Amino acid sequence: MKTYVALALAAPALVAGQQSLWGQCGGIGWTGATSCSGSGIVCSTLNPYYAQCLSGTAQTTTSTTTTRTTTAATTPATTPATTTQTTTLRTSTTTSVAPTGTGLDALIKAKGKKYVGFCADPGTLSNSQNAAILQTESGQLTPENSMKWDAIEPSQNSFNWGNADTLVNWAQTNGKIIRGHTFVWHSQLPSWVSAISNKATLTSVIQNHVTTVMTRYKGKIYAWDVANEVFNDDGTRRTSVFSTVFGDWTFLDVAFNAARAADPAAKLCLNDYNLDYSGSKLTNFVQLVKDLKARGVPVDCVGTQSHLVVGNGAIPSFGTTLDSLATASSDVQITELDIRTSSSPSSSQISQQNTDYTNVVSACMKRSTCTGITVWGVSDKDSWIPSVFSGQGYALLWDSNFSKKGAYNAFVAGINS
Ligand SMILES: *[C@@H]1O[C@H](CO)[C@@H](O)[C@H](O)[C@H]1NC(C)=O
Repeated sequence: MKTYVALALAAPALVAGQQSLWGQCGGIGWTGATSCSGSGIVCSTLNPYYAQCLSGTAQTTTSTTTTRTTTAATTPATTPATTTQTTTLRTSTTTSVAPTGTGLDALIKAKGKKYVGFCADPGTLSNSQNAAILQTESGQLTPENSMKWDAIEPSQNSFNWGNADTLVNWAQTNGKIIRGHTFVWHSQLPSWVSAISNKATLTSVIQNHVTTVMTRYKGKIYAWDVANEVFNDDGTRRTSVFSTVFGDWTFLDVAFNAARAADPAAKLCLNDYNLDYSGSKLTNFVQLVKDLKARGVPVDCVGTQSHLVVGNGAIPSFGTTLDSLATASSDVQITELDIRTSSSPSSSQISQQNTDYTNVVSACMKRSTCTGITVWGVSDKDSWIPSVFSGQGYALLWDSNFSKKGAYNAFVAGINS
């Protein structure tokens, strides 16, 4: 789906001028700003591939939690100013924040669901308004880009952990579970992988990639999108280096089996988009999951991205497609929800969006098989939609000034329906 190209292209927007706290400021291949803005913020080299703007005192990793737990407020104060980022990462994983009682995540948990989450990455976390909203509203984070293959293993067996570490650390510090995203995917795939033509080589490359990443974050990731978008919209197997070299679906066996071995506690999902409509894609997706499970491949959950369009006729029957997915797995996760419309919507489009958000969330609430909802971004300011769908946007729950939209209240109404 070309949409993800935009997610990758979104990164350079962070590059101009000086970087703010958490932003990347150096490393092999980095062409953006190499200085940091803000008092006491210094560009710190974490490894040859990644330098990041960090507080010179190492207190900033947990300082965002100071109003929320006394533990978080006091622990950093005892940390010497010379503490390295590595130490900070380890220290901060020991703190977690009690969920507040008012946000979307707290509301949905009170109704028996696992989480409301959002995608994020160091770039969006560095915005204090995003961070504050995520602390209050979110129980789960998905890395928007930092765990994609091109980001995390850009050249063979050379892993670039910086952004993913930052995301994982922030989530753990703030008590959020994480959906890992993603391993086997045709897009945002480095050319050294695309160039492989030998099945044995590709098998070991998949196994090494999955094993190395999952081992690093073992015990910290709730669920992984082990494979993403393996179908075309007509329900046929998508052409990729994986499907071409293997000639069948067994590249999925390799990836899921490696994932189970690397972190047996993580839930392993097959994720795709346009599963919101009845038809060949949904039918064949469900059949594939059944086939995988029948031959012993460990698939624990299915992910339906749910990039929707305001007023689309499929939205009122969203529950029907959730039910279809539930025949493949009793754990159906809405993984990338947004509902786009005109970037300058009419009042009727806004009203329809509210109805649509309530319908989608309500459909999940009415089904025990729908376990959690991840929204693909916090504010319209950072949404991937405008850069991919010209003239469209307004897809999320907060506007570009971080004010709650009607869609937020509509989401709450769906939880309470
Ligand atoms: C955001 O704030 C600016 C300045 O007040 C205003 O001009 C703009 O319309 C606001 N945007 C939205 C989406 O409300």
